[in-house]
Amino acid sequence: MAAKVLVTRRQFEDQMDRLRSEAETIVLTRPAPATREELLHAVKDCTGIFAHITDRIDADVMDAAGSSLRVIAEFGVGYDNIDTAAASERNIAVGNTPGVLTETAADFTFALIQSAGRRLTESDRFVRRGEWKWFDPLDLLGLDINGSKLGIVGLGRIGSAVARRALASGMEVIYFNRNQPADDLGCRRAGSLDELLAESDFVSLHCPLTPETYGLIGSAQLKTMQSHAVLVNTARGPIVDTDALTEALRSGAIASAALDVTDPEPIPAGHPLLRLENVTLLPHIASATVGTRKKMSQMTVDNILAVLRGELPPNCVNSEHINWS
Ligand code: DGY
Repeated sequence: MAAKVLVTRRQFEDQMDRLRSEAETIVLTRPAPATREELLHAVKDCTGIFAHITDRIDADVMDAAGSSLRVIAEFGVGYDNIDTAAASERNIAVGNTPGVLTETAADFTFALIQSAGRRLTESDRFVRRGEWKWFDPLDLLGLDINGSKLGIVGLGRIGSAVARRALASGMEVIYFNRNQPADDLGCRRAGSLDELLAESDFVSLHCPLTPETYGLIGSAQLKTMQSHAVLVNTARGPIVDTDALTEALRSGAIASAALDVTDPEPIPAGHPLLRLENVTLLPHIASATVGTRKKMSQMTVDNILAVLRGELPPNCVNSEHINWS
């Protein structure tokens, strides 16, 4: 029987052609993510799943695919939507796309740091509403980038790339990491998360979403931050408690936030966060450039094609648990 691959969202056609040349390839092209029922039905008898952040790939999905399933390839570096333990138990390789999006995500994060510090989205809305009548020397005052202190939570690949941009722009950078990073770029390690939060003018989150980081930034942590401080999240929404953040922004406990990721995602219509001026809300686009998304698509297909040829994915997150011999 020919191998079958499910691609859960529309993707670049040249990469789909690479898959089609080696497997029956089903691409779900509806603009919205597959519903649970669609996913459970569409995975049946698949050898590979080309998955996206919007797909919850758990044991039920793996079992619905059946014993043919050998690889789940995530279009992204974060793979918290995949139950990797369940995949490992079933000898299913999980692939991702590290590296190719690092600089793009860091460019975007640093743009958010600058934009939130200088209140750009708020100022744009102010002009569009027709409220800009005259120059006011005391209105829309922001926070300097140069000379400010940036606290990075998670000095991994993307966190380090953000730190390099910050250092080049005259910021002082401190970080908090569970493990000692291979290269800390000369930045100071904060003694604790609270110390980082209390000292930083800007806090940028770059840790993966795990049971340990779920809700890492809640009410107590936001109260530890300074009232002029800015929170930037381009990592994963559930690292921040949305209700606590909404309250901190409303009460002025922190000055503003810039969020490329939220919990839930998207933020539902009518949510109080949508009514606040001091928050920038973006639709999970940190890696969304033509060049980077093409490379991510190619890497995801590389991960699947390797498995169809009997090899491990070149970027495999659970290789130590896979035994196909
Ligand atoms: C990633 O690569 O993890 C992006 O957030 C897309 O999911």
